[in-house]
Amino acid sequence: MIKSYNRLLEGNKKWAREQVAKDPQYFEKLMPLQTPEYLWIGCSDSRVPAETITGASPGDIFVHRNIANLVVHTDLNLLSVLEYAVKILKVKHIILCGHYGCGGIKSSMENIAYGYVDNWLRNIKEIYVRNAEELDQIEDADARLCRLVEINVVEQVRNLCKTKVVQHALEKKSLQVHGWVYGMQDGVIKELSHTDDTLKAVHPIFKYQIK
Ligand code: CO
Repeated sequence: MIKSYNRLLEGNKKWAREQVAKDPQYFEKLMPLQTPEYLWIGCSDSRVPAETITGASPGDIFVHRNIANLVVHTDLNLLSVLEYAVKILKVKHIILCGHYGCGGIKSSMENIAYGYVDNWLRNIKEIYVRNAEELDQIEDADARLCRLVEINVVEQVRNLCKTKVVQHALEKKSLQVHGWVYGMQDGVIKELSHTDDTLKAVHPIFKYQIK
């Protein structure tokens, strides 16, 4: 019996052969350094792989994914990725991409305990409560989920703009921050927020003096 993980190893060999067939120097060219233009912060969901849904290639996107694409101010993993991408790799765009039908967002609206992830999803419960007036009025559960997915994207983009590293790069006009949402029903990405409207929505208490 073929072990199911062999499918991935076989797929890898086939892919590597195809790249070399198209361009014998393909891997040589990618080797020396990476200069991606984009940092992608997306959901860990297996159905939303950054490169596949955007038609990008290896070398194009620096990627960070976690459950429900959250920007949590104490998450050393995300903060390391963010700082490295902005300061060292000098990405020009940060794309925070959520997706409709997100299981993490859906779970945050329920009362089932799963484990560590409950702590993670509590961040979204807080966002729900802050927007309860609007969300509670939406009777259809799917429509309410869609709206919370969108609100969450906007909120996480704001969180990015609360960090000193992003503020500094925005000040220098070397960076733009985008909030996107991916539709699993049609595969299409919708733009939700741009740098300017996000910055306006960030309370002045979060703004640092740039030296
Ligand atoms: Co998700």
